[in-house]
Amino acid sequence: MDFGFNSSIFILCSLLLFQRLQITEGHLKIHTTNMKNDDHMENHLRFRINQEGNSIQIPDKVSSLSQMDPALNLFFYYNDLKLGNKMLIYFPEKDPLTSPHLLTKQESDSIPFTSSQLPYILQLFSFPHGSKQALAMETTLNHCEFPPIKGESKFCATSLEFMLDSISNIFGLNSRFKVLTTNYVTESISPLQNYTIYEPPIEISAKKIVACHTLPYPYAVFYCHGQVSDNMLYKVMLDGDDGGRVEATAMCHMDTSQWDPDHVAFRVLKTTPGASPVCHFFPADNLVWIPVS
Ligand SMILES: *[C@@H]1O[C@H](CO)[C@@H](O)[C@H](O)[C@H]1NC(C)=O
Repeated sequence: MDFGFNSSIFILCSLLLFQRLQITEGHLKIHTTNMKNDDHMENHLRFRINQEGNSIQIPDKVSSLSQMDPALNLFFYYNDLKLGNKMLIYFPEKDPLTSPHLLTKQESDSIPFTSSQLPYILQLFSFPHGSKQALAMETTLNHCEFPPIKGESKFCATSLEFMLDSISNIFGLNSRFKVLTTNYVTESISPLQNYTIYEPPIEISAKKIVACHTLPYPYAVFYCHGQVSDNMLYKVMLDGDDGGRVEATAMCHMDTSQWDPDHVAFRVLKTTPGASPVCHFFPADNLVWIPVS
């Protein structure tokens, strides 16, 4: 299969992906009872953070946002992106035992991934209809089937091959591209802590950007999307007060005028559509694809 770029990059990306998937982490753990037999299944399903706010449960009171969901501490102000600045950020601890596996294309092709087949899929994974897991899976499928908004390219990937093919279609056949992630420089990270930006943030210029976020499912599902709008990418070196350094990938959406006023980012940053840029860090299990020029 031709992915539009050479095989060594492919292998590098694969390695990177598999490594990255070993350290995925969510913020809400659901215990499952009936998943015993399948090697590719894990004992936990996790709710994933979607920076665009879609899979974050929105609390009632703005004042209790950070207590309710520490993951909301991924949003920040554009003006905070400065050397020496300190901010409260949530980067979960690594937990390789509970990360969903990425399937091979062959495996992925053998399991239906559509809400119309949900009863069959639930049976396959032994999740009772109406269980928390079943609801999470249904939400993920619906999220993947929701049509893209104007100017947006989106897809859900259940295998690396599909992801790369789709990225290649968006960037143009024969285009070369690379992946950016948030990396933990040190082994242990205190999940919610104050970080200081200890090197000047580096702007990464990219004509197009496709960001892939993980969604809750018994195996790895990436929701990938790219929008035609004014977005900036940054590499930000962070030094934690309680120890731990992170090389973070961040994005700033400079024009939010077309966003839903109920977007969770506006509540967190106490702003309104179009009033100011919205920035966020990517969790370590997210993948940000950009073309190599
Ligand atoms: C982060 O810093 C602020 C301001 O210095 C402080 O009030 C807060 O308690 C700190 N939070 C944590 C989790 O360390």
